Amino acid sequence: MGKGNEKLSLKGNIKAFIWITRLSFSFNKFIYGLFIVSEVLSEIIPVLITFFAAQVISQLASGTEFFSNEILFYLVSAFALTLLRNLLHQVIDYSIARFNYIWDIKAWELFLNKSASLDFQYLESPDFNIMQQKVREAVNWRGTNVALYAPDLISSFLSLILISGILFSLNPIFVIAIVSLELVRFMLNRKFGKSLYSFWDSKGETKHHASYAQGAFENEDVVRESKIYGFAKVVIGRYKKELGEFYDASVRNLNNRTIFRVLMTILDDILTLVIQIWLITKVFARQIDVGGYSFYLANISTVAGSLNKLQTAFSWLSEQLPFISELRDYLELPDLIHKTPEAQKVINTAPTIEFRNVTFKYPGTEKIILNNVNFTIKAGDKVALVGENGAGKTTIIKLLARFYDVTSGEILINGVNIKDIDLESYYKLWGVLFQSFAKMWFSVRENIGIGNLEDINNLEMIRQAAQKADADGYISKLPKQYETLLSRDFKGGVEPSGGQWQKIGIARAMFANPKLIVLDEPTSSLDALAEAEVFANIHELSKESTIVMISHRFATVRNATNILVLKDGEILEQGNHEQLLRNGQLYAQMFNEQAKGYR
Ligand SMILES: Nc1ncnc2c1ncn2[C@@H]1O[C@H](COP(=O)(O)OP(=O)(O)OP(=O)(O)O)[C@@H](O)[C@H]1O
Ligand SMILES: [Mg+2]
Repeated sequence: MGKGNEKLSLKGNIKAFIWITRLSFSFNKFIYGLFIVSEVLSEIIPVLITFFAAQVISQLASGTEFFSNEILFYLVSAFALTLLRNLLHQVIDYSIARFNYIWDIKAWELFLNKSASLDFQYLESPDFNIMQQKVREAVNWRGTNVALYAPDLISSFLSLILISGILFSLNPIFVIAIVSLELVRFMLNRKFGKSLYSFWDSKGETKHHASYAQGAFENEDVVRESKIYGFAKVVIGRYKKELGEFYDASVRNLNNRTIFRVLMTILDDILTLVIQIWLITKVFARQIDVGGYSFYLANISTVAGSLNKLQTAFSWLSEQLPFISELRDYLELPDLIHKTPEAQKVINTAPTIEFRNVTFKYPGTEKIILNNVNFTIKAGDKVALVGENGAGKTTIIKLLARFYDVTSGEILINGVNIKDIDLESYYKLWGVLFQSFAKMWFSVRENIGIGNLEDINNLEMIRQAAQKADADGYISKLPKQYETLLSRDFKGGVEPSGGQWQKIGIARAMFANPKLIVLDEPTSSLDALAEAEVFANIHELSKESTIVMISHRFATVRNATNILVLKDGEILEQGNHEQLLRNGQLYAQMFNEQAKGYR
C-alpha cells in the first residue's frame, strides 16, 4: 500500500510524467519533437490572431479610410497566422498517428522483452498478475495517451501564462480570482482522480477475477465442460457481481465529481459575466476602445478555456500517471536470480549433476517443498524421478534450470555451484519438455525449430528430430506437412491432439542434440506403443546425453539407470528397477499397484 501511495502523490505523478516524456523521445525524437513544437505553436498563434483581429476592429471603429494600409497589414497577418495554425493542426494529426504506430511497436517490444526475461518468482506470485494487468493497460492505451496529452498540457500552460500577463496589466484582481477558482478545482479533481486509482489497489483482485470471466468462454476446455455441467451461469453471475462491486465504487466517485463540476461551471460563467460588465464600464469611461474590448473579451474566454483544459488534463493525468509509474516499475524490476560476473561457461558435453543437502521453499511461502535432498547424476546417466503428485518432482526440475535458487544446500553442475555457472552456455546443453509446454501458433517446422534457433530453417534436421519423437508420420499427413500452422485460430491451421502435441514437444527437445535431456511427464498423453517407440529412440540416440525424466508410467521408468523415489520432498529410496523392487518400499508398492491393472 505504501508503494501505491507513492504512485498517487504529486511527486510520484511528476516523476512518471518526466519518465514517459523521456521514453517517448527515446522512441522517436523527430516525430515526438515535431508533435510538441507544433502543439506549442498552435496554442500561441491564436493569441496573435486575436490581437490582429482586434486591431482591425479598432481601425473600423475609428472611421479609417477605405482599406487603409494598416487594415490590409493586419488582415494579411491574421490570414497568414490562421493558415499556419491550420497547417500545424495537420502536422499534429499526422504526428499523433505516427506516434501511435511507433508506440505500438516500441512499447510492446519493451514489455514483451521484459516479460520474457522475468524470473519465475515474479510470474508465480499472485500479486504480480494484478501488476501485469495494470501494466498491460499502460502499454495498450494509457501510455500513448499520456504521451500525447502531455504537450497539450504544456502548451495550454504557456498560452495561459502569456494571456494572464496581458490581463494582469489590465486588472490583477480578475487574474487572481480566475486562478484561485482553478486551484480549488485542481485540488478537488486530484482527489477524485486519486480515489479512482485507489480502487485498483483495493478492488484490483475483484477486477482481476472479473477479467478472467471475460475470456472464459474463449477457452474450448471451459465451453465443453460448461455445456455438460451448465456452470456458465455461475461464471456470468460472478462476473456481474464482481464487476458490479468495482463499478459501484466508481459510480460514487463519478457522481460526486459531476456535482462538483456543475458547481464550478456555474461559478466560471458568473466570473466571466462580472469581467465583461467591468470591461464595458471601461469602454464607457473611454479607457479602452472597441478593439481593446474585443481583444480582452476573447482572451478571457481563452483563459477560461485553457484553464478548463488544464483542469481536465490534470485530473485525467492523476488517474493515468499511477499506471505509468507501474509500467516504469515493471520495466525496472530487478533480476532475482543473481548472475556473477565471473560465471563459468559450461563445456558442451553431458553434464554431471549433484544435489547436495538441497532444501527449498518457494519464496514468500513457509512450506518446505524439498527437504535435504541429496543425489548425484553422472554424465550420461538416464535418471527417472518418481513419486506421488505434489512430491516435488517438477520443483527439482525448476531448481535444476535455476528458475529459483535453493533455500539452502547446493546444486553442482560438473562440480561447480550452479550460481557460478554461465546460464547461457548451460541452457545450450538443454533439451526440455515441461509438464505443460509452449504450444506456439507457428508452423510445425517452427514449433520444433524454436528448440534450436540456429537451425530453424534446416528442414532435414527438423525431420530427424520429428522421427526421434515418432511425430514424422503424423506430420507428413498434414495438409502442408512441416509448414502447416498449429492453431485452428488461423486459416489452414490444424489442432494436434494432446499426444500429437506432446510428440512435437519431444521433437523440439531432441532437435538441438541436447547433452542434457529433461522431460517432465513427456508421455502422459502418448499411447503405449508410441511411448515405447519414443523411449527406445531417445535412449538409442542419446547414449551420450544425461537424461532426467519424470514419469508416472513404469514401462518408461523401469529402463532408467537410476530411479529417485520422492515422497513429501524427501528422497525415500534410489536405485535401478530391480533393486527398488527388492527394497519392497514405495516404489515396489506403486509398481505392483500399476502392474495389477495389466494382469
Ligand atoms: N510456484 C509455487 N509456489 C508455491 N508452491 C508451489 C509452487 N509450485 C509448486 N508448489 C508446491 O510445491 C509442491 C510440489 O510441487 P511439484 O509441482 O514439484 O510436484 P510434482 O511432484 O511435480 O507433482 P505432479 O506429479 O502432480 O506433477 C506442491 O505442494 C505444490 O503445491
Ligand atoms: Mg510435476
